[in-house]
Amino acid sequence: MTDQPQQTRRRVLSGMRPTGKLHLGNYVGALQNWVKLQDTHTCFFFIADWHALTTDYEDTARVGDHTVEVILDWLAAGLDPQRCTMFVQSHVKQHAELHVLFSMVTPLGWLERVPSYKDQQAQLANKDLHTYGFLGYPLLQAADILVYHADYVPVGEDQVAHVELTREVARRFNQFYSRGAKPLLNEPDVLLTKAPKLLGMDKRKMSKSYGNSILLSEEAAALAEKINNSVTDRPKLTDKGSPDRCPVGNLHQIFSPADRLAYITKGCTQAGITCVECKALAVESTEAHLRPIRERRKEFAAKPELLKKIIQEGDRSAQQSAEETMRAVRDAVGLFSMESFEQHIPRETAAARLQVPQAAGSAQNEQERREIVTADWVEKVSKATPLRKDRPQIFITRKGRKVGVQTARAGETFTFPDRPLNVLVLLAEENGYLHDYVLPPKVVQDHWKSFARENGNVTVELKQGAMVTASGEVPVQQYEGDYSALQ
Ligand code: TRP
Ligand code: SF4
Repeated sequence: MTDQPQQTRRRVLSGMRPTGKLHLGNYVGALQNWVKLQDTHTCFFFIADWHALTTDYEDTARVGDHTVEVILDWLAAGLDPQRCTMFVQSHVKQHAELHVLFSMVTPLGWLERVPSYKDQQAQLANKDLHTYGFLGYPLLQAADILVYHADYVPVGEDQVAHVELTREVARRFNQFYSRGAKPLLNEPDVLLTKAPKLLGMDKRKMSKSYGNSILLSEEAAALAEKINNSVTDRPKLTDKGSPDRCPVGNLHQIFSPADRLAYITKGCTQAGITCVECKALAVESTEAHLRPIRERRKEFAAKPELLKKIIQEGDRSAQQSAEETMRAVRDAVGLFSMESFEQHIPRETAAARLQVPQAAGSAQNEQERREIVTADWVEKVSKATPLRKDRPQIFITRKGRKVGVQTARAGETFTFPDRPLNVLVLLAEENGYLHDYVLPPKVVQDHWKSFARENGNVTVELKQGAMVTASGEVPVQQYEGDYSALQ
């Protein structure tokens, strides 16, 4: 596959809980696929250590060790810090911040209905999982995914419902807070990983807790011993079996070349070979695949400084991406930010009241006076919402809106050219103070036709905090000092 330039690549994100050394089920079910995705996608892979706490909050002593074990396995298997971003979830606080915002808008029923909620509670009956964190597990996962605008989430069948919920949360959040044409949060798709079947050595599902697994980093001797001691599908030499139902057969299906797989499949199904021979071949094929991985792991484990640097850089790069998203999210949600501090000063306080600038007093004529008052006001608001001059009394906002600004003293009329304007600003002078009414596009549009007209100009008359138009009086007081239309 040809490499696409970095910017146009689709974004992939996935995580693993820090369970310690990975077994072959984790490898063929996820990690092997991640390694491939690095070449074609912009990838984020992280250790979901907060997620681990949702079920293991009582015993956290080994979370750190387990985190490093998993990262070593990732590097050993071929995840490359040059080609993907690897990081630790709890080091990127933006996940928690987005999670808290999601918790405000997510109905409890959505979380209670996720199948894994009740299932896991029942399965892990020895633990008290009637906790807030456990209920919120998929919501934290939604934050993990959405904070990076992931397009795809490579996961197994068991996680599909979580990605489904993620999409619903994104949609609801966008409904409330998205304003622009581009949605605030991107709805991701599942990239279902079709894991080849791999039974544990006792024929049950391979799982750490059953003690029936082979580690990715298994030493050669232990690997051979586990395979040689494995349960098979042929209790007696004369029984016919199937590699599909045998842990050893599964290893062949994953790690043996086609001709060897064909040979043992025939031998197994026709009782033409012994399991002993079949196992010896499986040891060979599996060892051939795992040896370079084991060696690479040892190399990384011997360089703790390098490992530390890889994690630090991954964390930093993830923080950067996540913070970019969160800046937009905080703004869209409308949280108070110090960058727009000026917009929020209450107008009642005398200090904050706008004053007609001193310089206006020494203007040569009415025209010059208006220009001074306008320029002073534009300069003030531009600190938070920059306005660019277009022509006399007309300005352009950052988003390209046309803003007409006009001043008038009590009882006078405001005059604007009869050309399309998105926002009208009425600067009304009164006893040395200035009231600034910023009429947003909706108001301007609704009343544009009913404004009075004179010599190709639109005229607006203000009377006690209301505009007088052909269709009646329109109160404007609520727009005083409201600069949201100047974005
Ligand atoms: N819940 C996932 C698991 O148990 C781990 C996980 C956490 C995850 N956050 C994620 C996976 C985000 C994909 C995307 O395997
Ligand atoms: Fe398993 Fe091989 Fe024996 Fe078949 S021949 S049962 S695949 S060990």
